[in-house]
Parts: sequence; structure tokens; C-alpha cells
Amino acid sequence: MAEYVGAIDQGTTSTRFMIFDRDGHEVARHQLEHEQILPQAGWVEHDPHEIWEATQDVVEGALGRAGITADDLVAIGITNQRETTVVWDRRTGQPYYNAIVWQDTRTDTVISALDKTDAGALIHDRSGLPPATYFAGSKIQWILANVEDARADAEAGHAIFGTIDTWLIWWLTGGPDGGLHLTDVTNASRTMLMDIETLQWDDELLALFDVPRSMLPEIRSSSEVYGTTSADGPFGGEVTIAGDLGDQHAALVGQVCFQPGELKNTYGTGNFLVLNTGTDIVRSSNGLLTTVAYQLGDAPPVYALEGSIAVTGSAIQWLRDQLGLIKAAAETEGLAASVDDNGGVYFVPAFSGLFAPYWRSDARGVIVGLSRYNSVAHIARAALEAICYQSRDVVDAMIADADLDLEILRVDGGVTANELCMQIQADILGVPVSRPVVAETTALGAAYAAGLAVGFWSSTDELVANWNESMRWEPTSTPEQRDTGHAEWKKAVERTLGWVD
Ligand code: G3P
Repeated sequence: MAEYVGAIDQGTTSTRFMIFDRDGHEVARHQLEHEQILPQAGWVEHDPHEIWEATQDVVEGALGRAGITADDLVAIGITNQRETTVVWDRRTGQPYYNAIVWQDTRTDTVISALDKTDAGALIHDRSGLPPATYFAGSKIQWILANVEDARADAEAGHAIFGTIDTWLIWWLTGGPDGGLHLTDVTNASRTMLMDIETLQWDDELLALFDVPRSMLPEIRSSSEVYGTTSADGPFGGEVTIAGDLGDQHAALVGQVCFQPGELKNTYGTGNFLVLNTGTDIVRSSNGLLTTVAYQLGDAPPVYALEGSIAVTGSAIQWLRDQLGLIKAAAETEGLAASVDDNGGVYFVPAFSGLFAPYWRSDARGVIVGLSRYNSVAHIARAALEAICYQSRDVVDAMIADADLDLEILRVDGGVTANELCMQIQADILGVPVSRPVVAETTALGAAYAAGLAVGFWSSTDELVANWNESMRWEPTSTPEQRDTGHAEWKKAVERTLGWVD
């Protein structure tokens, strides 16, 4: 019998199951995309059943590719797109509504109203999060207020809430036949409903969003044995489920950023910079979130400062799908390299408002600085620069909040395959950018959390020894070039603000 650890990585656009060996090397994977449901401007939904179906298919597919069975897996971990909200009937497994995705801004009037009262300060102080449509609290409130029977069923104990980790664990452990209803501290820390100090649901926050406590999952650590998969599920056997953490927290673990001051930047549909602040809770004065980085079993929780950027890689998809300017995302690299610079063009893709460090739900996207001289190549270059300038804005906030002395930026995620983009990132920041051999740090981090819980890996030191650099980009810019470009970018950001009420 071989020994591997598996990880379900349920992301915004796709679901994958990956299998890793003891060295943290990938053995097999299978991945499937799911539909983005966009019913109206600002609304983004997923079909929870489609996600569960895809999860079953990718598990079966990867096990088949690896030629192994459930018996060869010592444990599995789950990692997920965070904040995305499902409310379902525990008697049947039927969702009351589609999953409301983290990018969805339908609750912006509720949030703006809260933000103008003392409640906004209470939310920020208690949960570590600025009130925003991004987090789960107002999404649950919307479902309970707008879907027939949802509130009555929640009050009767039938309707239950979960982020996607919770939804999948519930199904994997039996669904309506005794499925476990739980989440971990990292996912719970993205709801605006958990006290960041006690790591428990908070009655005052629940009252603000009118969410009955009975519908909430139990909060557990990110790395412990929660239960086993049911034998009649996709694993075809009982596999220990021992890791659960939000995807950006998992990427921090996969990048082995276990020391205070270590930072990673994940480039996906959005960008997420997470800075380990150790067991200290650091409150931000510069637009960052205070969040739980991870909690490994009984050990004290480790905290982080996070800069979440809503739209980065998805701006490239937008150029492809909505504007038809390119046929494939990878084309941006050649296009952007065909011009010396951005030709004066700046693109701020504030499609979901602006997240960190601005938190302006009234912002909308702009492309500015256009002249007749510009071509699609300049727009492609501006899109790559937008990814990097948004990351710089967050790094500047981290330097201000945490006295960060950034020597290197660890990067991962799909966009890091774009080497020009990584060079632009090094040039805009003025520090080297480093990518590890295993770029799938999110799935790896979930596998690490699960493997640590069952003793497959003995300690985080063993995981640190697994990390190796594959590529490094050194900055080639002067401080003057960096400052001038960043000042122009900030002018473009100004143009996005106050676009909607
Ligand atoms: O907070 C949202 C984040 O968890 C989504 O990540 O990689 O699925 O787009 P991703």
C-alpha cells in the first residue's frame, strides 16, 4: 500500500483534486471548470450542485490517473474559494439559492448603511474585517430575506449555512445521512460573524446581520481529524478528512510561510497577499484585513494581515471573453512584450468596486490615458501592470502597518506562468520575486494541513525542507521610474472612485 495525501481545491472558476507524495511532489491531478452565473450587473453565482458533482468527478479522475484507491490515501484536506455562501436544507441537501460568490456586490446598500453607523466600527473591531459585500455575513442575510421559506427554515433548524468547505465536507461525510456540519477558523474569519480573538461566533455580529446561530457550522482548527468520507462517495472508501482552510491561507502554508514577516502573493482571478504576523493580532490602519492565517490542531492560532484584490487575472479573462481582444490569456505576454512600455495607458479593473487597500464599493473600472497611438498591445501591458500595481498598493499598506522590511516576494498561482508579468512585478516593487517548484501551493497547503494532523509529516520544519525555488526575477527599474509609474497609477485609481452611488 502506497502512502499519499490528497487535496480538494475548490476555486472560483474550477475544482481540482491533487495527490501528493511525502516530498510534496504532485502525483496526479484532475480539474474541471464550472459555470459563472451572472444574472445581472454585480451579481455572481455558482450552482452548488455543479460544484459537488465536479468535486466527485475530479476525485474519481485523479485517483484513476494515479492508479490508486482510497486505501492509498492517509488523509485528505479541503481548501476553497472563501466567503462564497451556500444555505441549504439539511434534510434534503437542497440549496435555497445558488451560491453567492465572494465577488458579488448585491448587498452594497446594506453594507454602505452599516458602514455609516457605529455598527461598522463594531464589525471592524470584532471581526478584523471592514464591512464589505465581499464577506459572507450580508450574503446569508440576503438569502434569508429574499428566498421563500429560508428564514422560517433557518429558525426551525433546517436551513444551514456553509462556505464551500462546509458544503463539501457535509456531502463527503454523508450529506442528509449524518453529514458533518463544520468549518475551520480561517473560513469562519471571512464571515464578519466571528470574533477574531475568541474564534467563536459572536452574538452581537449575528444580531447585526440577523443570522440565527443554529444555522452556523462548528468552528474547528485547520488541521485535525474531522471525520471520514463515506464509502459510497467519490473515494469509494473511508478516507480521513484532516485539513480544512481557505485557499489563500492554504497557499501561505504551501509556501511554508510559517515565520512572522513572511509574505506570499497568489495570482488567481484576484490577487491575495497574506503576511504572517505570528500569534499577534495586528490591526490595520491602512486598509488591510486582519485574518486567521491558520491553526494547526491544538497550537495557538497564527494570524495574518491580508490584502485582497478582487480583479487581476479575471481582467485578462475579461479582455478575452468580453472584449474579444485576445484569444487566450497567455497571448498577453507576447503582446505586452511587443511594446516598450504602456504608452501612457492605465487600466484599473475595479469591476467589483475596489478591495484592499481602498475598500470602495462605489468604484468602477477605467482605462485612461488613451490616444490614437495606442494599440491592443498597450492595453494588454496595462492589464499586466494593473495586476502588479494593485499588488504594490497592498505591499505599501503592509509596510506601513507591520513595519515590513520586504526582501523578497514569494509568488504562486496561474498568472506566475507569465514571465513578463513577474518581471514587471519585480520592477514595480523594487524587490526580487521568487516562484517555487511546486506552483500549486494552495492544494499543497491543504495536503500539508491534513498530513500534519495524521503524522504523515512530523512538523512544519519537514515542510520547509520541501520548498525549492524554480525561478527568480530581479528588479531592473530605478527608484525614479518606480515612483513615476506608481504616481500615474494612483491618478488612474482616483478616476474610478465615486462612479456609482
Ligand atoms: O477570497 C476569495 C478567494 O478565496 C478566491 O480565490 O483563487 O478561488 O479565485 P480563487
